[in-house]
Amino acid sequence: MYKIAVLPGDGIGPEVVNEALKVLNAIERKYGVDFETAIYPFGGIAIDKTGDPYPAETQEACLKSDAVLLGAVGGPKWDALPGSKRPEAGLLALRKSLNVYANLRPAILYEPLKNASPLKAEIVGDGLDVLVVRELTGGIYFGTRGREKTDTGYKAYDTEIYSTEEIKRIAKVAFDAAMKRKKKVTSVDKANILESSRLWRETVEEVAKDYPEVTLEHMYVDNASMQLIKNPRQFDVIVTSNMFGDILSDEASMLTGSIGMLPSASLRDDRVGLYEPVHGSAPDIAGTKKANPLATILSVAMMLRYSFDMEDAARDIEDAVLSVLKKGYRTQDIMQDGMILVNTVEMGDLVVEEIRG
Ligand code: NAD
Ligand code: IPM
Ligand code: MN
Repeated sequence: MYKIAVLPGDGIGPEVVNEALKVLNAIERKYGVDFETAIYPFGGIAIDKTGDPYPAETQEACLKSDAVLLGAVGGPKWDALPGSKRPEAGLLALRKSLNVYANLRPAILYEPLKNASPLKAEIVGDGLDVLVVRELTGGIYFGTRGREKTDTGYKAYDTEIYSTEEIKRIAKVAFDAAMKRKKKVTSVDKANILESSRLWRETVEEVAKDYPEVTLEHMYVDNASMQLIKNPRQFDVIVTSNMFGDILSDEASMLTGSIGMLPSASLRDDRVGLYEPVHGSAPDIAGTKKANPLATILSVAMMLRYSFDMEDAARDIEDAVLSVLKKGYRTQDIMQDGMILVNTVEMGDLVVEEIRG
């Protein structure tokens, strides 16, 4: 029996995770499988309970699980804490402890949402499908940081460090993914300035030699962020560093209509994975039932696909989401004229009904 550690977290985290668990339950019934799920404190709520965003009990459970399902962490209540004590530090510790270095963030446009993006429909086009492969356990997120007093104030620093090994393994994930897709990899860096980017570029070139069928292109991150808006359909797989991937995936989410649509899977070399929506805890709408749960529901589909090898069940969820959207149901973030506005819970119920058939 697969074990899933569930970390609802803060803000809209518990709201969207509830809906994702309903969907997981519907899959259990339909496919006659049984997942062992247990909820653990994580993020701000864990700080309130234990003083630690990633308490020992949660860590132990996550390390023993086959998959971790996470909502989101953070919020104004904890923003004044020192950096290393914040909810977000717990998230970095979680990713590092699981060694899930490969973060897949697919930006897929569901056809009924082609007018929901602020970009013109002809720019987004039909069937947009860009996969951002973000390095997740290295780079500036994990380099040395500090602050020192100076005569006039402070100086502060964060260091970006990448090793050949770290770049190789993430590049391989990107090329392997491209082989199953349109066979194009765009490696995004800032090699005109950063030494770590120059090593990144050289190493990606080396890995590319093992994938002669894949077209490799390099792009500076400033240009890439412009090209994503100008002509998003030129991209297939984007591979990039931790920080650039964070930024570009939020940008890519708007091609699909809303950040509330973007799921993610964070993987390592075995099947264990961490699954979470790309968005945060959205304190501005927490408690209003306005959150779109589809990013988290689609993260469950990724869990079934990557951790449990249940491709049919994963597709079932994705098809259910498509059907619900085709019928005109929308949360407020993707709402348009003539559509039917539903709240977080109603959206979860609709997906469950669709799966039940
Ligand atoms: P955010 O993603 O939480 O919100 C950005 C905007 O998008 C807000 O207007 C929000 O209402 C909207 N939004 C986000 N998710 C949505 C959803 N599912 N449905 C509808 N609208 C949605 O980013 P932020 O405001 O910069 O950060 C808020 C907090 O979340 C911060 O504490 C931040 O550190 C944290 N955060 C956590 C994660 C994570 O846990 N993985 C990711 C990003 C941000
Ligand atoms: C994300 C978030 C996190 C990140 C923060 C909350 C640490 O923005 O998952 O995209 O930057 O990785
Ligand atoms: Mn982010």
